[in-house]
Amino acid sequence: MENIDWKSLPFGYLKTDYNVRSYYKNGAWSALEACESESVTLHMAATSLHYGQTAFEGLKAFRGKDGKIRLFRPGENGKRLASSAKGIMMEPYPEDLFVEACKKVVKLNERFVPPYGEGASLYIRPVLIGTSPQVGVKPAGEYLFAVFVSPVGPYFKEGFNPIKVQIVRDFDRAAPLGTGLFKIGGNYAASLRATERGHEEGFSSVLFLDAKEKKYIDEAGPANFFGIKNNTYITPKSSSILPSITNMSLRDIAGNMGINVEQRSIPVEELDSFEEVGACGTAAVISPIGTIVDRETGKVYEYCKDGKAGAISTRLYQHYRGIQEGEIADPAGWNVIIE
Ligand SMILES: Cc1ncc(COP(=O)(O)O)c(C=O)c1O
Repeated sequence: MENIDWKSLPFGYLKTDYNVRSYYKNGAWSALEACESESVTLHMAATSLHYGQTAFEGLKAFRGKDGKIRLFRPGENGKRLASSAKGIMMEPYPEDLFVEACKKVVKLNERFVPPYGEGASLYIRPVLIGTSPQVGVKPAGEYLFAVFVSPVGPYFKEGFNPIKVQIVRDFDRAAPLGTGLFKIGGNYAASLRATERGHEEGFSSVLFLDAKEKKYIDEAGPANFFGIKNNTYITPKSSSILPSITNMSLRDIAGNMGINVEQRSIPVEELDSFEEVGACGTAAVISPIGTIVDRETGKVYEYCKDGKAGAISTRLYQHYRGIQEGEIADPAGWNVIIE
């Protein structure tokens, strides 16, 4: 591990020293335990394997210039995991214990938190799965909550540079009254065909439209979408997208910078009028979008004509990263510092 080349880390899995686990059985969660094994032994009839009772989270820890390790808004991930659990009838893991679990797993793997200034971070992946057997379609009675970590580099090879995305109309990720608002395995399985085809056709990501009318922008692959025009940050309001913690934080930062914020339906045609567009999420914070191609109509939308991210996206990104790395004041107390 002493040989990790922090600057060239992919966004992938790298073995660390420990993960942490807690088991739900007979109506109670067990005390969190540290575990060295990377494997989970499961009953072959576990509900997670057949009926998709599996939810997860993604957040990051950063080492600041001051050497301190900061977790960014872990309480929000704890809340969202509880909401995902309830959405697919799983036992929620208590939100206060969730934050403690994240702190503990980072502390146990402290030597894997990348040094400041390498453009890398420690990705934290909590998972919650149904473990007890069912043959009929029913929720499990027993659950496993586990958290592992992995040092990661940028999600897109472009980093904070414009990416190309593709509008897809022949696949849906989630239905309006379905499970798109939860961070559960099924939504990602449903997105794979479109996403892999998009990659093969030369795009970093795909833009899904609302499944009912195919009129509005919904989710930007594994990220939320936003557009900027007339000093206004506009992001979709939809019942089938994941409530992104990055997007929520960007809306606050934008508001504090005097940028107007709107959360509403965004018709596809409005893409013509945006000055900047981007995808936002934990993995990259903001991925500026340079080109959008509508796969069915062939229409092309272009932004970042000078090859660089737009001015407002850049300000938002720098402010966000500054808070995460402890270089900019954190008035709302978003960071949880690991002592
Ligand atoms: C489908 C989807 N939408 C949006 C996001 C962004 O959410 P967050 O900002 O909480 O990472 C993610 C990633 O977590 C995602 O998988």
